[in-house]
Amino acid sequence: MSVLFQTVINTGRLYSLRKTLNASSYCKCVTVRRFSDVPSKFKTFDEVVTQRRQEARRSIVVQVNSDSSFKELYSYCSKYASVSGVHHYKNNAEEHFMLIEFGSEENLKDVLRSCSSHHKDLDVMALQSPFLWFRAVSGKKEILTVPDDKSLLITNGTLPVDEDQLFAELLACETVSDQIQTLYDKTMLNDLGIRLRYMVARQLEIMFDSLYANIAVRPFGSSVNGFGRIGCDLDLVLTNVLTEELSDPEKRLVYQEKKCEGGRSPWQRHMELVGELLELRVPGVTRVQRILHARVPIVKYAHDLAGLDVDLCYSNMSGIYMSELLWLFGSLDPRVRPLTFAVRRWAQTVGLTNPHPGRWITNFPLTLMVLFFLQQKTKDGFVLPSFKYLIRKAEKDDIKLAEDNVNCTFLRDLNKLPTESYAQSSSNLQSLLLQFFEFYSQFDFNDKAISINEGTPVRKPNALPLYIVNPLEQALNVSRNVSYEECERLRTEVRNAAWQLESSSEGSKGDDWGLLGLLERRTTRGLKKLLRVGNSHRLVSVKDLFNEKEDDKQDSLRSKLQRLTKTDKEVDQSVKEMKVAMIKEERKEQKLKFKNSQVANEVYRIRRDKIV
Ligand code: CTP
Ligand code: MG
Repeated sequence: MSVLFQTVINTGRLYSLRKTLNASSYCKCVTVRRFSDVPSKFKTFDEVVTQRRQEARRSIVVQVNSDSSFKELYSYCSKYASVSGVHHYKNNAEEHFMLIEFGSEENLKDVLRSCSSHHKDLDVMALQSPFLWFRAVSGKKEILTVPDDKSLLITNGTLPVDEDQLFAELLACETVSDQIQTLYDKTMLNDLGIRLRYMVARQLEIMFDSLYANIAVRPFGSSVNGFGRIGCDLDLVLTNVLTEELSDPEKRLVYQEKKCEGGRSPWQRHMELVGELLELRVPGVTRVQRILHARVPIVKYAHDLAGLDVDLCYSNMSGIYMSELLWLFGSLDPRVRPLTFAVRRWAQTVGLTNPHPGRWITNFPLTLMVLFFLQQKTKDGFVLPSFKYLIRKAEKDDIKLAEDNVNCTFLRDLNKLPTESYAQSSSNLQSLLLQFFEFYSQFDFNDKAISINEGTPVRKPNALPLYIVNPLEQALNVSRNVSYEECERLRTEVRNAAWQLESSSEGSKGDDWGLLGLLERRTTRGLKKLLRVGNSHRLVSVKDLFNEKEDDKQDSLRSKLQRLTKTDKEVDQSVKEMKVAMIKEERKEQKLKFKNSQVANEVYRIRRDKIV
């Protein structure tokens, strides 16, 4: 990855999309697949990405006054072009937006030609972008023409599921497998979330089009690999795709090129420019941070209009192929994604993962751990084949090289796999989750490395505490940052989780049965246990406990608890109060200033552990 942003010759063939699938059923089949569905036909990653990029090319995002602006906006736009669908969402500032998809890219151009304008009164340099706003009309109201069957496809579509509601639904599930499936269905990145991410990529492409001959901005990572949850960050990569047509040696008139002079990497300089352009020219972009001296230089920013945090890097084609690989494994069996969601959520709950970079494991290696576990040949059979099997099955069209000649050749069309090479296990999600924890409880982390290439444990080439082989660059360890202490914590937590899941799935269903026992925040759980009185399953109000009067001071906590015992109806309220108190506490912590973020993270982590 040292020579980055190098030219990638686009040798991939163009996939024709099956026209029989309409957009909505397509999206559903791409993003929502339940265990009970029988996958009849696998899609390739390229097909999905092409579809999403095309959608973005015929869509705009319009800021409106509220969701009731739909009729006016629909009526206005449909005078100029056919509208395929309108989705509503709110950003973090509670401003309202509508993502409108038109029938074709031509339609969109017609709309922009006839309707869009710039804000004359402001001191700005005009720029075209797919992010617009809807001006209110003064004076006479227009007659609105909206067919009865047209309405918003989704309202408030990027709002994460309410945690209390989610936990109530998990509580009401029949089985742990249902809980795992529900967690996945309710928290996975939805269609609108994916569309918005492609819109943010498209916005950059439009801006760069005027500066570079053939630049593409593509999402990668959890936004596209099938393991993203609502609100996940957007990873973007800027690539210079010099197509065969553009570099045709038969053509005799060739453009003069601007060569970059000076010692520094030309692309580092281009990324500096990108940082400037983002700050100066791109609507919605705020808080631009340039991290250009890192091994993989990136520009981080927040997109306020889309409500997203973005990491932009360049020419990281192996990141895209890695996303493709994860997407393929996730598509092969409908248990893979829900299981991974449960594991990722559990790891977040017990503090194994952390949104800030540090010496702990992150979601990507954790996902590789789940895939590796699913490759194991147990008495119930295996779920996934090894990666080397996909490599062996690759055909001519699958040959791909990323930067530094990293070989990213593997079978892309899963329809070509023999059916006996995957989904041979009949275990349900509940038993897979338990087996996952048991498998890693017994895993020999001291001597063995995790390699999805082999599908079996391999010898560790060095003494790093956790070794997870990078599937595309096997000499690299994707968890090299993980410290000995964090690896020990991982081992302890998988053992605890195995025990917890086994014991909470037996007998009567308490309020932390099955998955709930693994997902509830430890602090909430600890407090709940503390506040539970006798066997009556009751809680006391936090306010009552801490706002004590003078004459209460002599009381022991136990007698106070007994006096303050609440009825079952007040339990929910008490839990809510506890959560608010904890959030306030966390905010207080956030206000403290530390020397740098690494020190801050360590302090938060130690504190969190102490609470537990
Ligand atoms: N990646 C990689 N090698 C690594 C780390 C990351 O190839 N050592 C690639 C993977 O394709 C990964 C992507 O970069 O999916 C983005 O990394 P990251 O944002 O850390 O993980 P995500 O999968 O996007 O998960 P999250 O939801 O936590 O962002
Ligand atoms: Mg990411």
